[in-house]
Amino acid sequence: MVNKTKSCVFISGKGSNLKSLIKSSRDYNFPIKIELIISNNIKANGLKLAKKYNIPFKFFPYDKQEKFERNSLLEIKKKNIKLLCLAGFMKVLSKNFIKNFRYKIINIHPSLLPKFKGLNTHSRVLKTKEKYSGCTVHFVTPSVDSGKIILQKRVLINKNETENSLKEKILRQEHKIYPQSIISIFK
Ligand code: GAR
Repeated sequence: MVNKTKSCVFISGKGSNLKSLIKSSRDYNFPIKIELIISNNIKANGLKLAKKYNIPFKFFPYDKQEKFERNSLLEIKKKNIKLLCLAGFMKVLSKNFIKNFRYKIINIHPSLLPKFKGLNTHSRVLKTKEKYSGCTVHFVTPSVDSGKIILQKRVLINKNETENSLKEKILRQEHKIYPQSIISIFK
């Protein structure tokens, strides 16, 4: 594939989804190239991955949302980014940012949306004694975790499941469905 879509990944923490996207994007036929990584957290482990894989990155503090978004948009436009992937980015993007970016924004969320939107997903899932949980990749719209679903994967919750075991089990599926979703939106 010659024309890979220039993409940016937003992160806040560990970056395991970022890692799976970096690995996939190194495949000749994968439709995107990650040209930029932006973090709102200077300590995000994902920034180490950016260095390791030699991908340009920026840290913009999030004390003021408007400033974070303005800085990010400037950088994104400079690099001619045409797809934005949120991968463990723990902030909500404003309507204004989404409108100004103009291209597709996608997100991964650790639940079977529309169930359990928002934060602290796994503990809420366990409290309500669900039989299944999972993960969802969806388009980002101004209303949180509510855009059109691209792919979803379900996992069974065991009797003695803990928050941590559920998180890890779901993460393993996230690492598969995020790259698959990107392939599917370019088909
Ligand atoms: C992932 O489980 C992702 O789905 C979730 O944070 C984790 C980040 O892990 N995202 C959200 O909850 C977004 N609201 P990672 O940094 O290792 O990719």
